Amino acid sequence: MKNFDFYNPTHIAFGKDRIADLAQLVPATAKVLILVGGASAEKTGTLAQVREALGARTHSTFSGIEPNPSFETAMKAVEMVRAQGFDFLLAVGGGSVIDATKFIAAAVPFEGDAWDILLKFGGNITQALPFGVVLTLPATGSEMNHGAVITRHALGAKLPFRSRHVYPQFAILDPTKTYTLPAKQLANGVVDAFVHTVEQYLTYPVNAPVQDRFAEGLLQTLIEIGPRLLSASEPDYDDRANLVWTATLALNGLIGAGVPQDWATHMIGHELTAKYNIDHARTLAVVLPAMLNERRAQKHDKLLQYGQRVWGIQSGSDEQRISAAIEATRDFFERMGLPTRLSAYGLGQDAVDLVLAQLQAHGMTQLGEHGDVSLAVSRRVLEAAL
Ligand code: NZQ
Ligand code: ZN
Repeated sequence: MKNFDFYNPTHIAFGKDRIADLAQLVPATAKVLILVGGASAEKTGTLAQVREALGARTHSTFSGIEPNPSFETAMKAVEMVRAQGFDFLLAVGGGSVIDATKFIAAAVPFEGDAWDILLKFGGNITQALPFGVVLTLPATGSEMNHGAVITRHALGAKLPFRSRHVYPQFAILDPTKTYTLPAKQLANGVVDAFVHTVEQYLTYPVNAPVQDRFAEGLLQTLIEIGPRLLSASEPDYDDRANLVWTATLALNGLIGAGVPQDWATHMIGHELTAKYNIDHARTLAVVLPAMLNERRAQKHDKLLQYGQRVWGIQSGSDEQRISAAIEATRDFFERMGLPTRLSAYGLGQDAVDLVLAQLQAHGMTQLGEHGDVSLAVSRRVLEAAL
């Protein structure tokens, strides 16, 4: 096992009716800016519950954070916070609202051009406003981690940043808040959480059996509940609760502690979203099967372990078992309704060339757990995904 630090200060308040706990979780004297996306928080009644729980605290709402949140929109919120002196932020939404809130929290006290935060991947953040989360979409794990991804439309760039200053102080995870999600978002959530787990598990063995078995448990849970979430005529509380907690655990640092991590699929996926506005999880479903196949030699031992322990693939030669594991993964994504080919989005060779140019522009030239996913490798992956 590798050396590691594990630090995660986020307080999780999990279960039905937990929004009322905001009354205790938000400091009594806080001046709160609530941040939301489009119309969903208002329509579902969540925003009203949040406002009620805040009681006598001074608060306002900033709405309009878009999916794949933009620097441009976030900077409007930064101006509002600075002008009106809010001292606590409350994200009510999915990964996009939470990520934007993290950026805003860091950008408000940041001196200089806030885009530099992205150019330095967050390494230049020295402080941030405190904030909490009310999660409405289980997928990204952003509610319990220190990462975020921000898009700058003017540059066609979608870049990640991380900082220990942007862990949420608390996250309220009420599984009933997922009941209003369209099937497409549920499916996206399952696949995003699945790929987060794979990015931290399917690398090379370092004799870390607890991390491995924890990751395999998350993957098996998603495989078990995923199709049921889509076919259920009524939302099932336990399935929703298990989805929420699995998605949080898939990216809160625990399974990635002490093990190599990949993330090449995510970095290529971000470029596809930036250029073609494909939902985040959908880009992953396209890239991952081709990525695993391209790197089957480097990931040989873990692919065999994954096939055997997660999919029960026991027979055949090593190469046959590896192929079967990759096909099972592709089939799972397709069953969840996520296409695994670029052609499903009308994209062809031109798109490959464009994404390659963006990867180069963003320095994404040595990706993966060995740093050997060069532009040439990314090109082969994308061409195999056509
Ligand atoms: O905007 P509103 O009207 O709120 O609608 C949203 C949005 O259109 C809707 N929605 C959310 N909760 C709902 C709901 N609709 C009905 N009922 C509810 N309860 O769902 C749509 C998608 O929301 P969004 O927040 O964009 O989805 P998601 O949680 O998948 O977040 C995606 C973003 O997170 C980033 C992605 O790149 C992408 O920008 N990621 C963040 C990560 C992190 N911080 O650790 C890691 C991930 O790998 C990912 O990159
Ligand atoms: Zn993701």
